[in-house]
Amino acid sequence: MSQELKQSSSTQDPSVIHEVQALRDELHRHNHLYYALDNPEIPDAEYDRLLRRLQQLEAENPDLLSADSPTLKVGSAPLDAFTQVAHKLPMLSLDNAFSDDEMADFNKRVIDRLNNSIKNEASENTTKELFESLEYVCEPKLDGIAVSLIYEDGILVMGVTRGDGTTGEDITANVRTVGSIPLRLTGNDIPSELEVRGEIYMPKAAFEKINKAALAKDDKPFVNPRNAAAGSLRQLDSKITAKRSLEMCAYSVGIVEGIKDGVDFPQTHEKILLKLSEWGFRINQEMRRVTGIDACDAYYNNLSEKRDALPYEIDGIVYKVNAISLQKTLGFISRAPRWAIARKFPAQEEMTQLLGIEFQVGRTGAITPVARLEPVFVGGVTVSNATLHNQDEVKRLDARVGDTVIIRRAGDVIPQIVSVVLSRRPEHTVPLNFPESCPVCESPVVQVPGEVVMRCSGGLICGAQVKESIKHYASRKAMDIDGLGDKLVEQLVDEKIIKSVVDLYHLDVDKVASLERMGKKSAENLLAAIEVSKTTSLARFIYSLGIREVGEATARNLSQYFGDIDSLLASDEETLILINDIGPIVARFIIDFVSQESNQLLIKQLLEQGVNWPEAKAQNNTDDSNELPLVNKTYVLSGSLFGLTRDQAKEKLQALGATVTGSVSKKTDYLVAGPGAGSKLTKAESLSVPVLDEEQLLALFEQYA
Ligand code: IVH
Repeated sequence: MSQELKQSSSTQDPSVIHEVQALRDELHRHNHLYYALDNPEIPDAEYDRLLRRLQQLEAENPDLLSADSPTLKVGSAPLDAFTQVAHKLPMLSLDNAFSDDEMADFNKRVIDRLNNSIKNEASENTTKELFESLEYVCEPKLDGIAVSLIYEDGILVMGVTRGDGTTGEDITANVRTVGSIPLRLTGNDIPSELEVRGEIYMPKAAFEKINKAALAKDDKPFVNPRNAAAGSLRQLDSKITAKRSLEMCAYSVGIVEGIKDGVDFPQTHEKILLKLSEWGFRINQEMRRVTGIDACDAYYNNLSEKRDALPYEIDGIVYKVNAISLQKTLGFISRAPRWAIARKFPAQEEMTQLLGIEFQVGRTGAITPVARLEPVFVGGVTVSNATLHNQDEVKRLDARVGDTVIIRRAGDVIPQIVSVVLSRRPEHTVPLNFPESCPVCESPVVQVPGEVVMRCSGGLICGAQVKESIKHYASRKAMDIDGLGDKLVEQLVDEKIIKSVVDLYHLDVDKVASLERMGKKSAENLLAAIEVSKTTSLARFIYSLGIREVGEATARNLSQYFGDIDSLLASDEETLILINDIGPIVARFIIDFVSQESNQLLIKQLLEQGVNWPEAKAQNNTDDSNELPLVNKTYVLSGSLFGLTRDQAKEKLQALGATVTGSVSKKTDYLVAGPGAGSKLTKAESLSVPVLDEEQLLALFEQYA
């Protein structure tokens, strides 16, 4: 129901009043479709046109402004300071649990207390079964900022931070700008006074975007999405908040007064949430009602798996007794309810000491600073190294040996140093200097203009680059030489038994057998494996050469296009950029590689040693590929699949003509996401790349079987 506009003395024109009212109704509906239901009906441009028209009418007729106008979503005049507001009902916090045992203790406390209270009421039916069927609602614990929203007659009149739980700050102008906070409630049975509580948060994709923009402007980035959400809400100028892509998820009600006669307010937590959804709030899609504590633990395990794939940060699970009557019986203890608990995930951020910094040289000469850390348990594993990426990152962090640093390890992502705790910096630390010469071969370190990375210019005279290129050549997805692991390659190079991959084909059994942890038998096995690996595919061979930016997918495309190595060697940049997945930069790297005589010689020698592959047919000037159903479609796979491995899925897609690449971009047609899909999923969502789950992928295979 829309609020009637009061006809004021100055705006008499009924057609204006009518248009304003109609625009507001329509914009409210689109806000709801877009923010609460994730199901927009009109394009953004059309929405903007409607909003601008309303802004214009309100500017011309200021007396028509109202507290629920959708124009308030773009922010209003800056404030001098936030006003303090006392909460009518205190905003409580939650007790924490960190293990299944602590969850069991919580459940026992709940059940004992309910049993006792029933006994006190002299009731006999305190059966165990009653409590084995105790219902909990499980919800992700969003990592954001708690907020209380006051609605009078369905209109948002105030938004307040949690503050100390008793008093918070009036952030009404800012909360109005948050898309998923309805300015006016929809649906029936809305109490005349309603307080809705929930969490305001910044989705991961928005956080990444805002930090990228900050770094580009040399501004300080936010440490995490929670921090970014808090910073955005604390703006005195709500126009800034409006630009910050915040979301709100409702998780409970506070004050509820003025329920109409004959209306029953929902009596379980789950039903309250569903009611809030009906009224226009976003509620968490992962919310589930379960029975018994074991189901709570199962929910925790399940969500732990899904955590990285969620588009927002969570730091645990909140469990709440479902029946409001039981919540009332259980009551509160100090500042937390007895009927709810937060099961926290292992911390993803911890503090530790930076012991030293080493510079590692990679296959292409890239020099990566690696921090050696006092081992610390974070994100479920013990971390003793973290990459510092490049010298820009080194400069930004200004981490120094002896510093206390904050380490973050989220999901499968490699551990990162988030920041330095400056207040704990010891005296006499020195800023880190990037080496001017390679720490391995002492060749000058160079930086290609336009690139961030510093590189050793030594090429194959650099022992580190030689080792890395041989490791790459032998690796599973390249020549797949069984038994030739990293340690063995290092020994072979250190002992000067080999200097390049060609030398692998002249290995002497006795020399290999004399190496540490080797013997005659394992040396013979290695030589046999090298022999077997000689028969390969053109795609693997191209990949094994280690050309910069030529990963498996690009190698496969090159192989498909050229069909033989000589055509690739004779190619030029104009031809290369016609190939799927290859842009001007990669084309340049390929040409740089193939035009070097040393590389041409290397390829010739490898072929002379017997490296071979069954002939492949070039597809550059045939129409064969166009007959395959997924030609010109680009897929990315992320997360785990159950019925088949990622490699199998990839091969099947490629067999149907699709290109499978490693990262999501505007050119991606589909992301196949399983549990744990992480940042690729976030990226796909931010670029509106369609996402398929395993079932849909299998259905696709079925379709073309
Ligand atoms: S219920 C009395 N549900 O966690 C119940 N809180 O320490 C109190 N939070 O500051 C809150 N997600 O902001 C609840 N689904 C959720 C939540 C949630 C995040 C935050 C909340 C509060 C803190 C509790």
